[in-house]
Amino acid sequence: MESSDFLGFLKSRSSVRNYLNDPLTEEEIEYVLSCASTAPSAGNLESWDVVVVTNEEVKTALSQAAFDQVHVEEAGAVFVVCANYVRSMSRYGERGILYGLEDATIACTYMMLAAHAKKLHSCWTGAFDDEDVRGILALPQHIRPVALLAIGRGHPPAVLTGRMDTGGHVHRDIW
Ligand SMILES: Cc1cc2nc3c(=O)[nH]c(=O)nc-3n(C[C@H](O)[C@H](O)[C@H](O)COP(=O)(O)O)c2cc1C
Repeated sequence: MESSDFLGFLKSRSSVRNYLNDPLTEEEIEYVLSCASTAPSAGNLESWDVVVVTNEEVKTALSQAAFDQVHVEEAGAVFVVCANYVRSMSRYGERGILYGLEDATIACTYMMLAAHAKKLHSCWTGAFDDEDVRGILALPQHIRPVALLAIGRGHPPAVLTGRMDTGGHVHRDIW
């Protein structure tokens, strides 16, 4: 792949919040998970886990836990990406809290881009009540839900979101 193709691929993705309520195939789910498992992680501990939710009632409950964000209910599947603190903290102690969050975030990013490569749509959903999500999915205490990644087939927005110039982020050599 040319580097310009890669940039074009990244630029053509956008968050989608209107879905057709069309389930993902098992092959699509497996593709997304296979891509995520190539993600780097601190110490290669892969301190992330995911609950793949396709059950309609569970998706509805997650949508309510996400403050009634309807796209969570309507997506074909919701990938609840979690940090696994037992895995990360067993080697890194307190620093493992940060690494667990980073590992989960990178894995979620790979899933989001995998969906895009499959011509599926997605919306990273970070606004949710942690305890509600814990309760719905029976997550153990050492598992922290980091993102509800809604994936499905939907209607992308007509206009892509803008970004600030890179200069707004970047400092050279010193702040
Ligand atoms: C950490 C994080 C949390 C987000 N939470 C939500 C959310 O709760 N609901 C939502 O509709 N979009 C959410 N988004 C999506 C952003 O709104 C979106 O990525 C941003 O506006 C840029 O638009 P784009 O993804 O279409 O380029 C979240 C994205 C990130 C990375």
